[in-house]
Amino acid sequence: MRQLIRGRTLSFHADPVETEDAFTYHEDGAVITHDGRIEAVGDYAALRGLGLPEIDHRPHLILPGFIDTHIHFPQVQVVASWGAQLLDWLNTYTFPEESRFAQQGHAPQMAEHFLNLLLAHGTTTAVAFCSVHPQSAEALFSAADRRNMAMIAGKVMMDRNAPEGVLDTPQQGYDDSKALIAKWHGTGRQRYAITPRFAITSTPEQMEMTGQLVREHPDCHIQTHLSENRDEIAFTLSLYPKARDYLDIYETYGLLGDKILLGHSIHLEEREIARMAETGSHPVFCPTSNLFLGSGLFDEGGLRARGISSGIATDIGGGTSYSMLQTLNEGYKILQLRGQKLHPFAAYHWATRGNARVLGMEAEIGTLAPGSMADLVVLDSRATPAMALRMERATTLAEELFILQIMGDDRSVAQTYVAGQPMLDRPPATP
Ligand code: GUN
Ligand code: ZN
Repeated sequence: MRQLIRGRTLSFHADPVETEDAFTYHEDGAVITHDGRIEAVGDYAALRGLGLPEIDHRPHLILPGFIDTHIHFPQVQVVASWGAQLLDWLNTYTFPEESRFAQQGHAPQMAEHFLNLLLAHGTTTAVAFCSVHPQSAEALFSAADRRNMAMIAGKVMMDRNAPEGVLDTPQQGYDDSKALIAKWHGTGRQRYAITPRFAITSTPEQMEMTGQLVREHPDCHIQTHLSENRDEIAFTLSLYPKARDYLDIYETYGLLGDKILLGHSIHLEEREIARMAETGSHPVFCPTSNLFLGSGLFDEGGLRARGISSGIATDIGGGTSYSMLQTLNEGYKILQLRGQKLHPFAAYHWATRGNARVLGMEAEIGTLAPGSMADLVVLDSRATPAMALRMERATTLAEELFILQIMGDDRSVAQTYVAGQPMLDRPPATP
């Protein structure tokens, strides 16, 4: 099926931090989709002649759907848990909540809520941690597959330092991951991420078997956590006394490379930064979580200067918003505290093409380039009275994008398309 989706289109083809010629914007633009992919993008005047059915989103912006590179699916009911930093927060709130995913029917129900929330916030692809129970990953993949949404997900492997109800064993973790990879990796738009939760919750035996999984499935992503919190780092190093530093643990078991996503990566040693750069490993910045859990201030500029490309993500439920706009808002503020400036063009690039590149998926998602999947977000810069009032004084696209970034959230998402299909029950715009 072919259709024309009309609005103000914006897509990045390069990183605005590196070049001025980084994006294409059509004030009266259109995207033509054909069987779930983008066939063309350009001026409406040039594309209208095809005589296709039209959906009119003027005056809203049409961008590639947002990509969230680090989120915890079983933490939808953990968000906003009071008063703790990482290790206490995990023990007090998070592990007990994740143990509920052992219950029959819980994971499928939460998977529907989770995907509805992502779509309501304009996120079309996420890299998700599931619980230790294989049925949590099964539920998420099935629900995403039914919606044709590209998910990258994995069940966490964890065999120590947590309650019984959220532990596996090295063999069980390996076998369950292997079975999920066989069933889901490459099925439709689903991809598997091999997921050792973090070094604290895996024995050396489990890390060894994780390395084996990675060798056996080199095209799977790997996701874990690194150097989020000072107490976490001290505990980790006490558990792996031979490691030169935290990253060295993951390196020892053969996990580093451009497939790995290292959540947080805040308190890094010089050697760790050098090895990240040499191996092409990717840190992931989780601003709302880093503020909420009091973890620290991510150094995007410092890592970039070393040639390291970072993802940006919500980290629900340490994070406090599903919105990539709100994530960019808090990211802007953290970088302010670091003396760094996140320009709005760089921000929207990051949440779309930038994250797609970190995942090695730029040909499929993250831009409006012909051939890409038609995963789109339609953004309303005047969604609230306060935004509409502020917009009266905006004269440039950059100003508008910044207002959306700082003041916007799910109320600004007028529609989200997955593979060309509108996913939200929202009325079309009235031009
Ligand atoms: N480190 C290990 N597990 C987690 C988690 O669930 N959330 C965060 N923020 N950090 C972690
Ligand atoms: Zn996390």
